[in-house]
Amino acid sequence: MNKKLTVPSCGATIAAGAFVVTVSFTAVAGAEKFGFGSTPTEQEIAAIDIDVMSDGRGYPKGSGTVAQGKEVYASKCAACHGENMEGVKEAGGAALIGGRGSIGTPKTKKTVESYWPYASTLFDYTKRAMPFNEPGSLSNDEVYAVSAYILHKANIVDANATMNAETMSKVEMPNKDGFIPDPRPDIFNYR
Ligand code: HEC
Repeated sequence: MNKKLTVPSCGATIAAGAFVVTVSFTAVAGAEKFGFGSTPTEQEIAAIDIDVMSDGRGYPKGSGTVAQGKEVYASKCAACHGENMEGVKEAGGAALIGGRGSIGTPKTKKTVESYWPYASTLFDYTKRAMPFNEPGSLSNDEVYAVSAYILHKANIVDANATMNAETMSKVEMPNKDGFIPDPRPDIFNYR
């Protein structure tokens, strides 16, 4: 049994066993205007283009000190993460420090200090998602400052540290070697 289906003006031919189906498209992709949407402005793109990569790409301008971060933390984070970053169960805010060396032991305690391999994640996540009740509300300076304070409380940077794009990129997290690279060869989102 041989059959050939033809739809006017063709683009693709699919042959499967005895059947040959020819399908075609007359509309040219992208040539139509649908009457909605608009080209985003540079500012609109910049407002959502906030990802910071582990190699330091994406850090914005700005800076903040440990001392400034202490203030930010007290007013915008402590309620949910605890005065000493020990976590507040009822608020759902995890402990942010402690547990160093515990990963892989029966007493694994995952925190920024013990688990996170890159400081960029601290900046990116805080800027994007915290405070939980008002995500995106912190200025870049505030995010640098509160990152400095958390890294200091985690014994990763000094009390007089100033964090900015350059100093954040140089931070070596305690668990930086705790992950196995798995570069899926078919995913090229960040080239
Ligand atoms: C209203 C409560 C609340 C406030 C305020 C808050 N957080 Fe959180 N935070 C959370 C919750 C809940 C989570 C877990 C979110 C999730 O898993 O989706 C979290 C997660 C985090 C994490 C990830 C912890 C981990 O190991 O997974 C970090 C880092 C963090 N917050 C930092 C901050 C910083 C910095 C501030 C202040 C600028 C802040 N948070 C303010 C509730 C809060």
